[in-house]
Amino acid sequence: MKDMKELIKKLVEAYGPSGREEQIREMIKGEIEGLADEVRVDTLGNLIALKCGSGGGLKVMLAAHMDEIGVIVTHVDEKGFLRFAPIGGVRPLALLGGRVVFANGTVGTFGLEKREPENENKVPDLDKLYLDVGAKDKASVPVGVGDVACFQRPFADQGDRLLAKGFDDRIGCAVLIQVMRDLESSPHDVYFVFSVQEEVGLRGAITSTYGIQPDLGISVDVTGTGDTPEARTMAVSLGEGPAVKVKDGGMLAHPAVKDLLIETAEELGIPYQLEVLERGTTDAMAMQVSREGVPAGCLSIPCRYVHTPSEMVDHNDVLNAVKLLVALLSKPIELS
Ligand code: CO
Ligand code: ZN
Repeated sequence: MKDMKELIKKLVEAYGPSGREEQIREMIKGEIEGLADEVRVDTLGNLIALKCGSGGGLKVMLAAHMDEIGVIVTHVDEKGFLRFAPIGGVRPLALLGGRVVFANGTVGTFGLEKREPENENKVPDLDKLYLDVGAKDKASVPVGVGDVACFQRPFADQGDRLLAKGFDDRIGCAVLIQVMRDLESSPHDVYFVFSVQEEVGLRGAITSTYGIQPDLGISVDVTGTGDTPEARTMAVSLGEGPAVKVKDGGMLAHPAVKDLLIETAEELGIPYQLEVLERGTTDAMAMQVSREGVPAGCLSIPCRYVHTPSEMVDHNDVLNAVKLLVALLSKPIELS
């Protein structure tokens, strides 16, 4: 089967925190050139590619978000140190010792204010951290208030297991691109939506779904796993197949969409898992409640250490997700 690692590496190493998706959007635009009948960018910045069907099918929307979590500069002091606020679910434990990069290439790392000895091993609040870009004073800081940085970390290929920042949700973007490449014919008009601002409240999915008015919506995003030491109990493991969402913190998947994903996996004989995620949600939540409601579900890529600079996925889960979606889109769909 086709290796997707080159595409994955390119996407995960790109810059694109919520609200600053220009660079990653241009990259994806380049990757899907010639694969769609129509490509447009909507007002919020969603990249929407339509692959027209042969007729008689549904209007299907697939969504994966381009944006990633990051930090936004709130203040620069006289010595050139920066204070920041989170963009999306950034936790202090994931920051110390790491690096972030701004749109202009400026790299920074995090420092921690002095602490009383009794607090030394406690997790600090975010506002006790600052960002150091190596500036000598305020005037020489190459970024300013309102500029946004995301994690900087190279992709690591360890065979089946892949490590990177930003699998949430560039791995979903990679799946959508590969589905566009592999889908030879479909009765359905398929809208591939590379959405913006998911990490700050599914905002891109809200406007794009409203505009497209799909008959069926499927998001492709990461989910957590329960397969690490003393993990929160969860019946999802790395490498045991893409996960069909039943429920997460924001939605109950439409039963017909869930069944459609399960039936397709069973027809293909590929492994799949059922996902009940207690916290967090995806673009499918916004899709589901758009206008008068859209039958929506989600195909998840199991991922360890979500929202840290070293997330981990299994390449086989990614390949099987592509296979499943290509098969699903290749045949007529009846939602009951
Ligand atoms: Co996320
Ligand atoms: Zn995500």
